[in-house]
Amino acid sequence: MPIKKPLELTSGDEIALYIHWPFCLSRCPYCDFNAHVRPDIEQADWGKALLSEMEYWAKNTSKRKIKSIFFGGGTPSLMKPSIAADIISKASKLWSLENETEITFEANPTSVEIKNFREFRSAGLNRVSIGLQALDDNALKFLGRTHSRKVGILAIELADKIFPRFSFDLIYGRPHQTTTNWTSELHEAIQMSAGHLSLYQLTIEKGTPFYAEARSGTLMLPNEEISSMLFQLTQDICEQKGLLPYEISNHARPGQECIHNLTYWTGGDYIGVGPGAHGRITIDNQTYETEQIPGPETWFSSVREKGHATRKFKKINFNARIDEILLMGLRLTNGISRDHFIQHTGLDFEDVLDPKRLRPLLVEDYLVLDKKGLRATKKGLLRLNSVLAAMLS
Ligand SMILES: C[S@@+](CC[C@H](N)C(=O)[O-])C[C@H]1O[C@@H](n2cnc3c(N)ncnc32)[C@H](O)[C@@H]1O
Repeated sequence: MPIKKPLELTSGDEIALYIHWPFCLSRCPYCDFNAHVRPDIEQADWGKALLSEMEYWAKNTSKRKIKSIFFGGGTPSLMKPSIAADIISKASKLWSLENETEITFEANPTSVEIKNFREFRSAGLNRVSIGLQALDDNALKFLGRTHSRKVGILAIELADKIFPRFSFDLIYGRPHQTTTNWTSELHEAIQMSAGHLSLYQLTIEKGTPFYAEARSGTLMLPNEEISSMLFQLTQDICEQKGLLPYEISNHARPGQECIHNLTYWTGGDYIGVGPGAHGRITIDNQTYETEQIPGPETWFSSVREKGHATRKFKKINFNARIDEILLMGLRLTNGISRDHFIQHTGLDFEDVLDPKRLRPLLVEDYLVLDKKGLRATKKGLLRLNSVLAAMLS
């Protein structure tokens, strides 16, 4: 429905910073992230190029306070810790950065990377997110992972000793996975966890080796009924153990939620640096969508030439921005509060949602709209993509 743009929009003065390190030791068959295998790269040059892009973005955003930094990938734990230290130090000069600001990096649990954990901590990183993916050697092999269960557990133990906060990722909904074996794997994972767990249901992404196998019938995923049971079980077990589901795939003890990811889901501003990185930057009440060139080598030459490799810096039209805030916010268990929605859009839910589309979703218990705000029910979260499609035109 076309919406009249209100006069005032606020994004706050805080901004998150995302740094993309696009390299991995090998490709995983399920992954469609912007990740590449390159045996020899000159890390120091890549580090300098990332610093250049930070300087570029700081021109528009320098008065702002960095809310969180996230090194994602690819595999940023393959980066030399001194590069991460330079990036953090640069961020503190370009923007304002406090000592306790959440600074996360993703790491794979291989021995090569684990041995650098202490140096990463000294570089200023205070949170690590480990791509554990499974606690079973056969499942790890199926997922194309190069680490074993034993090294995975070692990585978690070390992370617990070295970093104030850590999280790890598991992928469930794997072929032949039953509610019984997932229950025991999840209980074991929760025992090893601290404040945060990311639990992703395996999705088959176009262009990946798993996509080709699924099409040819050699990879069979659990059917919809089992998938729903696995999802529900995951939510229930985590909740019982105090790891509350705060987003569709993320669970945390209260206060341990990932501040960086919450920025995306609550429609906050973030700067994207590195190949393929995305950003959202609000200037004078107008939010811009930003995107860097994805191919690592093309990105690198553009940065060398111009100081940045921005391929998109585009105003987001108001209706698209509203849709985006709804799409992202409904992933959260608490949904979107009225105050937050009004603060970010200048309008209330009733001003923007089409009653004809909304009513059946409320009546059939997929969504709740009340004084507090708009949220998906447990039933709605299970089919969130269809609910969102039905809600938005
Ligand atoms: C950016 S990736 C992390 C990269 C990190 N280098 C690694 O391999 O662990 C973030 C997480 O998304 C999850 N993920 C990626 N592709 C997925 C897929 N097709 N289905 C389910 N989870 C996926 C994995 O758990 C992964 O750890």
